[in-house]
Amino acid sequence: MNAPLNAAFNATARPPLLDVRGVHCVLGGQPILTDLNLQIKAGERVALIGPNGAGKSTLFQVISGLRPLRAGSVWLAGRRIDRLNPAQIARAGIGRSFQSPQVFSRLSVADNLRACLLAAQPARRWWLPYQRDAELRQQVAHWLQALQLRDCADMPAQNIDYARLRALELGLGLINRAPLLLLDEPTAGMNRAQAAHMLDLIEQLCGDRTLLLIEHDPDAVFRLATRVVVLHQGRVLADGAPEAIRHDAQVQAVYLGTAP
Ligand SMILES: Nc1ncnc2c1ncn2[C@@H]1O[C@H](COP(=O)(O)OP(=O)(O)OP(=O)(O)O)[C@@H](O)[C@H]1O
Ligand SMILES: [Mg+2]
Repeated sequence: MNAPLNAAFNATARPPLLDVRGVHCVLGGQPILTDLNLQIKAGERVALIGPNGAGKSTLFQVISGLRPLRAGSVWLAGRRIDRLNPAQIARAGIGRSFQSPQVFSRLSVADNLRACLLAAQPARRWWLPYQRDAELRQQVAHWLQALQLRDCADMPAQNIDYARLRALELGLGLINRAPLLLLDEPTAGMNRAQAAHMLDLIEQLCGDRTLLLIEHDPDAVFRLATRVVVLHQGRVLADGAPEAIRHDAQVQAVYLGTAP
């Protein structure tokens, strides 16, 4: 096969990075996600939007193994992951942040980063943490600088302001260098300046990672996303380019509360 043909074959043969197939999720006896299908290719930046209660965070919980599926499956780069536990799923290649930030609240900012750096190392290196201390210190310093958290490095995470807390959580999601990053409302609760700073950090630090991002803020969606998926009552209502979704009558009806 010649080179261009070979490249084209590889591009079409490669499975999607994330493949959510026919997922049903029931919580408290209520169907929350119904026959949900979503495929994301490597390198895409997808915004997941939808009204409150649509099931966006539940989908993240399902993908990361924190909520059970009633039916369907979840695949990462061709590997089935919905039967793995959350730690195994993280190691398989998914980093994430939560709608309510999840960090080690009593540890300092630097120790949060240190703990995640240690956890992200291959298992054999757990035997050598002290011999690797200089390298580890360097990595912690790198992340403190990248996240612009140097001034609060020694403060307990529970004492830093909300915008910094979210920046720290972003860092914890990025540290294991997972190819897929799930961010649940990274700018929620922030003022304009804080939100703009968070979007800068995401753009600077995510590199070529594939991003699935839950957002209510249209500025964030239009700045970061190459594709928008709209969830409504646990189903995909629309999926397309940001501009097309902005003008979609069904999507507008859902947000205005006039959809059936
Ligand atoms: N543990 C649970 N038990 C029962 N119902 C739940 C549970 N968790 C979530 N739900 C319900 O599932 C639905 C979807 O919730 P989810 O948090 O996924 O919505 P969301 O789209 O993320 O909304 P928001 O934009 O407000 O964050 C809601 O009606 C919620 O009340
Ligand atoms: Mg949510």
